[in-house]
Amino acid sequence: MRRVVFNQKGGVGKSSIACNLAAVSAAEGYRTLLIDLDAQANSTHYLTGLTGDDIPVGIADFFKQTLASGPFAKKGKVDIYETPFDNLHVVTATAELAELQPKLEQKHKINKLRKLLEELAEDYDRIYLDTPPALNFYTVSALIAADRVLIPFDCDSFSRQALYGLMQEIEELKEDHNEDLEVEGIVVNQFQPRAALPQQLLDELIAEGLPVLPVNLMSSVKMRESHQACKPLIFLDPRHKLSQQFLELHQLLESGE
Ligand SMILES: Nc1ncnc2c1ncn2[C@@H]1O[C@H](COP(=O)(O)OP(=O)(O)O)[C@@H](O)[C@H]1O
Ligand SMILES: [Mg+2]
Repeated sequence: MRRVVFNQKGGVGKSSIACNLAAVSAAEGYRTLLIDLDAQANSTHYLTGLTGDDIPVGIADFFKQTLASGPFAKKGKVDIYETPFDNLHVVTATAELAELQPKLEQKHKINKLRKLLEELAEDYDRIYLDTPPALNFYTVSALIAADRVLIPFDCDSFSRQALYGLMQEIEELKEDHNEDLEVEGIVVNQFQPRAALPQQLLDELIAEGLPVLPVNLMSSVKMRESHQACKPLIFLDPRHKLSQQFLELHQLLESGE
């Protein structure tokens, strides 16, 4: 199962959700791989504790190989980093991804990630893809490579407008490139249960037929602590309400198998 967490808006919780779901998956005994496709490398840092030059070149090296040609070019290999957490491995992102992007676009390398994931699926039960905040080469590659897409949403009225566009783009991509891609749903992050407006907005989205999931993720400083400690919530504080919500969300997504 290959799940991509995507919304072209930044700061909605893509990295936080991808890493925490991957951590729950690993804690439940699934061999789990997270592939970080964002040059900002937030997920890479969160799960490995590494920064800057200490981060091994993971996915950027793979993409670079796809650009190399000639008889001695090594092809299709990717370095996998073992995190301190059992069953949880990462393919790291580095800033180099930004420089590579125009070359990859020019050479039409959009299906290479899918091929890599097909191979990796033999070694991993679950693969999570974290995406950059844009509909660019890397996100399109991920949407072509995945079989499920989870959309984080922050209950903001500006984001709502963007959400319609995003659903449309995913539909088009499905038609053109990946008929098997299933929209698992929209997950609300940083939900404020006591405020009237977010709930009203959600009710409207549901009435419009958008696939809003029944589990909301609360806003908590625990998330920031977790980032700072480079330890996903399920390992940092499994009893915390937000950790429990991630467990619930994971269970919900797995039950849709
Ligand atoms: N449920 C949450 N509660 C509190 N803070 C959160 C929560 N989810 C995300 N954040 C914070 O919001 C910011 C953006 O989250 P991030 O996962 O990096 O979003 P994205 O990957 O979509 O840009 C981070 O500083 C993160 O700590
Ligand atoms: Mg991110």
